[in-house]
Amino acid sequence: MTTTSTTAAAWPRCDATVAWTALRGHFEAHGRDLDLREAFARDPGRFDSFALQAPEVFADLSKNRWDLATRKLLTDLAHECGIEARRDAMLAGEPINTTEGRAVLHTALRAPRGAAPFGEQVHSVLDAMLAYAEQQRRRAKQGEITDVVNIGIGGSDLGPQMVVPALDAYAQRGLKLHFVSNVDGHDIAPVLRQLDAKRTLFIVASKTFTTQETMANAQLARAWFLEQYGAGGEAAIAKHFAATTTNVDAAAKFGISATFGFWDWVGGRYSLWSAIGLPIALAIGADNFRALLAGAHAMDQHFAHAELAHNLPVQLGLLDVWYRNFHKASSRSVAPYHQGLRRLPAYLQQLEMESNGKSVDLDGAPLPFGTSPVVWGEAGTNGQHAYFQMLHQGTDAIPVEFIAVRRTHYGPETLSPTLRAGLADQHNKLLANCLAQSQALMLGKTAAEAATEKAPTASADLDAATISRHRSFPGNRPSTTFVLDELSPRSLGALIALYEHRVFVSGALWRINSFDQWGVELGKALCSQLLPRMSSGETAGLDGSTAGLLKRLGAGKPADAA
Ligand code: F6P
Repeated sequence: MTTTSTTAAAWPRCDATVAWTALRGHFEAHGRDLDLREAFARDPGRFDSFALQAPEVFADLSKNRWDLATRKLLTDLAHECGIEARRDAMLAGEPINTTEGRAVLHTALRAPRGAAPFGEQVHSVLDAMLAYAEQQRRRAKQGEITDVVNIGIGGSDLGPQMVVPALDAYAQRGLKLHFVSNVDGHDIAPVLRQLDAKRTLFIVASKTFTTQETMANAQLARAWFLEQYGAGGEAAIAKHFAATTTNVDAAAKFGISATFGFWDWVGGRYSLWSAIGLPIALAIGADNFRALLAGAHAMDQHFAHAELAHNLPVQLGLLDVWYRNFHKASSRSVAPYHQGLRRLPAYLQQLEMESNGKSVDLDGAPLPFGTSPVVWGEAGTNGQHAYFQMLHQGTDAIPVEFIAVRRTHYGPETLSPTLRAGLADQHNKLLANCLAQSQALMLGKTAAEAATEKAPTASADLDAATISRHRSFPGNRPSTTFVLDELSPRSLGALIALYEHRVFVSGALWRINSFDQWGVELGKALCSQLLPRMSSGETAGLDGSTAGLLKRLGAGKPADAA
């Protein structure tokens, strides 16, 4: 690590650097029109030149619209923006979240004891949380509990909800995990319907223990539990409710004694490594949870020590700026070719869009360029049969990120010979699809090529040239492919940490505060003003649309639930 610089003033914004000006010239001269097909034809070594190996994650960056000169200028940009100093300030626990006056230390949650700030506190909660998880897993083996319901939202939900299915192969059978987040009762009602209160463990997960949705669901779950349990329900709460929160007093007032704390320097969207990871530990056990942390720590080490030119999160963050600010791409699609990663796009939406969806820099100055792209996606191959049409032939070139996993792992159960053979065949199909999509995006198909194909179902009124224009693909559409050897706790930990650091890098280049989220506050405040009007029906002082909608929704009439 380099010497840290604590002053935000020492960190220039990307557009105030020499490298930025050079990148503008480079973009006009070569960057905008770089053709990937020609680049591969010119340079047989392109794949190797743009391959990067980070812990657990191999990245093929060669199908991106850049060349060696672009990469050099982008890396210069990272140096000039003080990325190393900013990274080191974060890792050292400096209060880089300036608008909340907080350190940003999720990396400390996965560091070995003594290797990062707050090690003693972190490891004592981790040990206690994992011991509790193991105790509950033993109860589950004895049939005492069959279901766990995590009640939380945003960062207190999305991480565990993404990781638990991703690591299904490692999960203890016979213990079903449910996630309730929405204040909409259609979330909790179908879950409660399946449960036996005497065999259920509820986790109330909330950094603040004040979030409206979580508190409403937690109160409802508690009332339901007492109703269903019957005599002795109050006393049984201790065995059937746990809390994960920084607000230990509020959890105690709620009546929960099994509380696992964390700290204000853990951002909600960076909290799955903390006690918020309890549902993950319940599913996969202490050793696997520690492997998840170790994988993330390995990526932290790579981020902290690899030269910027070979530093995968840094290079990804630079590419993000290249696409967002030069190519003007306003979105990025993520396509994990592993069904277990189906919740990854939703997780990444919060990670990236809540972190970098900002329009002012650290000094509050309005930004003259775009920041967070829209991050979206779906597991492959499902996405191919939905929105990939637009990626291939739509009017915008959207960078796509593919995630391929070399080896399968379906869990400890013995597979029958038929199933084993069929699954092996399906995995080859899955990987071939993944490769075919990035190939098709890059290669495209000219109208001349399309004209050589038969189009038997086309209307007889269309001439051949018109049909071939419909059937051609522009190509030259960029993508990155990550390859994991297998989806394990360790590799998943590394993959998530990779995304966290990449978001840090683009945010640092834009010189924004990636660690606050004031944008969600206004809606919360207006909601608390509107809530009483739902029962009173009072519309005085409201804008016309809100007043009209309030009436249309039946405000002022008795609410009912059927
Ligand atoms: O939506 C805003 C937010 O503060 C997120 O950042 C956070 O993850 C979520 O709400 C949940 O907050 P809490 O964990 O305090 O309930």
